[in-house]
Amino acid sequence: MFSFSVAFDPKQGIGINGRLPWHIKEELQLFKRNTLYKNILMGQTTYDSLPRKLVDRNIFVVSWEEGYQPEGVVVIKDLIQFLETHKDDKEEYIICGGASIYRQAYPYCKKAYVSFIKDEYKVDTHLDCFSINDWKIVEKVDYDKFVYCLLERKEDGTN
Ligand SMILES: NC(=O)c1ccc[n+]([C@@H]2O[C@H](COP(=O)([O-])OP(=O)(O)OC[C@H]3O[C@@H](n4cnc5c(N)ncnc54)[C@H](OP(=O)(O)O)[C@@H]3O)[C@@H](O)[C@H]2O)c1
Repeated sequence: MFSFSVAFDPKQGIGINGRLPWHIKEELQLFKRNTLYKNILMGQTTYDSLPRKLVDRNIFVVSWEEGYQPEGVVVIKDLIQFLETHKDDKEEYIICGGASIYRQAYPYCKKAYVSFIKDEYKVDTHLDCFSINDWKIVEKVDYDKFVYCLLERKEDGTN
């Protein structure tokens, strides 16, 4: 089963210069809580931009660069094949970006951990595949700088 975890601003901005546009401690803590001891999957750009190693998670990194093999991660060369192979697994795989990986994995995701950042930031990367109409809200928590929602995909296509 695939889920995704993302934080985006009011214009669906998610990144700038290969990094997050904001530094919001509570949001990072939430990311940790939601991903700990789970499988997480991200693109090479996102993985390489992490300020420190993510511990206590199985990390899958999507890259087609020959010889790219950071220590302690599983490198995925063919993302679509991986998505097709694991889509019916009981085990959860959380897609953690960036934009190109969200785009390819979005149709496979049944659940989403989304932080709606309240302020607008300067960005160069957007989450262009997401529509709130695809989802129902299961849980909603209002924080100072963002609203966190746990979402489940609508199966019947209603809005
Ligand atoms: N706000 C958030 O929640 C959040 C979360 C994660 C990341 N981000 C931000 O998003 C930005 C990075 O996004 P991004 O789209 O530039 O990078 P990305 O998705 O992290 O990684 C892109 C890399 O993966 C490769 N790739 C993409 N699809 C592939 C496939 N099917 N098979 C093999 N390799 C594949 C790309 O190669 P090619 O270029 O050759 O296609 C490229 O090297 C950063 O600013 C980051 O901070 C934000």
